[in-house]
Amino acid sequence: MPPKIFINICRHTTNNEDNQLSNLQTNFAGINSPNPFWLASAPPTDKEYNVTRALKDGWGGVVWKTLGLDPHIVNVNGPRYGAVWGRDRSLLGLNNIELITDRPLEKNLQEIKSVKRNFPDRALVVSLMVPCEEDAWKKILPMVEDTNADGVELNFGCPHGMSERGMGSAVGQVPEYISMVTRWVKDNTRMPVIVKLTPNITDVRYPARAALNGGADAVSLINTISSITSVNLDTFSPEPSIDGKGTHGGYCGPAVKPIALNMVAEIARDQETAGLPISGIGGITNWRDAAEFILLGSGSVQVCTAAMTFGFKIIAELTSGLELWMEQKGFDRIEDFQGRAVGNVTDWQYLNLNYITKARINQDLCIKCGRCYAVCEDTSHQAIAINEGRTFEVIDEECVACNLCVNVCPVDNCITMEQLQEGDYDKRTGQPVIDTYSNWTQHPNNVLACTEEQE
Ligand SMILES: Cc1cc2nc3c(=O)[nH]c(=O)nc-3n(C[C@H](O)[C@H](O)[C@H](O)COP(=O)(O)O)c2cc1C
Repeated sequence: MPPKIFINICRHTTNNEDNQLSNLQTNFAGINSPNPFWLASAPPTDKEYNVTRALKDGWGGVVWKTLGLDPHIVNVNGPRYGAVWGRDRSLLGLNNIELITDRPLEKNLQEIKSVKRNFPDRALVVSLMVPCEEDAWKKILPMVEDTNADGVELNFGCPHGMSERGMGSAVGQVPEYISMVTRWVKDNTRMPVIVKLTPNITDVRYPARAALNGGADAVSLINTISSITSVNLDTFSPEPSIDGKGTHGGYCGPAVKPIALNMVAEIARDQETAGLPISGIGGITNWRDAAEFILLGSGSVQVCTAAMTFGFKIIAELTSGLELWMEQKGFDRIEDFQGRAVGNVTDWQYLNLNYITKARINQDLCIKCGRCYAVCEDTSHQAIAINEGRTFEVIDEECVACNLCVNVCPVDNCITMEQLQEGDYDKRTGQPVIDTYSNWTQHPNNVLACTEEQE
């Protein structure tokens, strides 16, 4: 329905006062915003000038660039960013070695107050990072309350620069510290408290549980992933290089989305944290990404790299795309689909082993590049034959349905996976397809069951 998309985009871009549609309205941990799209704490949100322009363009809210207690932070004066690009030079991953705000605290607070006064309907959350001392939190929290901000986000996530000073991910990697500091904050403010988690841990459920135990109203994740994006082959310096030396930075952008989605799902389906509001962050670039985070339980989403890549105007596509999809699916409100995918995330042993598929190649779409053949022959199950005239055909007797051919094929929908139906024969196993559910523990060849029996 192209005309409808056009109409929606116009509504979002031409009328800034009334550019949000009611069904995107969000209440996240008591914080209202006209849509679920917030700018994440980062350079896009580090001053009134940026934030005002973003909110005018239609962003539902912002998390202000992390504030600390003065004395001021001093950033590097060489390049702050490293990157990983796709072949078309699209930005897949961004790495940064930037610290928290290097602007004076007083100036930031004045600007936050002004923005909240000018945009009372938008979510304005202030990200904070101060030393691990209760007095430090007692000092900064009243200053933030004075701005009338809607909430605070505790930055327990940044993996570089501040963690060496005992803050950021140095706190987020120790569940006891997370609980302790969250409790201090809860005891000293009336504002909702969002704890921003680091992905630089082994099991995200533990820090999330710690946040909840400390009284957090919500968690947000992910912050950036510790990373070195590249090494210069002439100077042998990691990039970004500061006078011949580099350091690990924080990785974000489209490349981290799968990691973030899994972590969000882990928290959403953990019985101990189920129901804890989650603000999903990590690689969100278009409305589809946002819908996926919401389906896995997020109540709001935050965006950084996409705004730093394309500018603030992407909000028009984010909101209109999400709204159109919701209309098509019959969802009136965000809550109607929030978390709908959580029950479909399961552990491996519960997957249905009687669900059998085979690869199918659409000869009309095939461009005869042979990539499916090469990878299947060399690295998989020798299940694709090359015939005369360079046509490619799946050998059902060998196909284990691994899906690699689908993933390497450069043509959309040229290779698809077709489900065998009850009564069909799986030529690979010689067995008829049974239309029942079978999991690992029920399976006759189950190694675990054998081991248990032997014991
Ligand atoms: C240059 C840069 C600076 C950032 N600074 C902060 C910060 O001050 N506080 C914070 O909590 N997160 C900071 N982040 C992390 C982002 O808020 C976000 O968690 C991360 O970039 C993942 O989202 P994305 O994939 O949409 O970029 C920063 C990210 C970038 C790229």
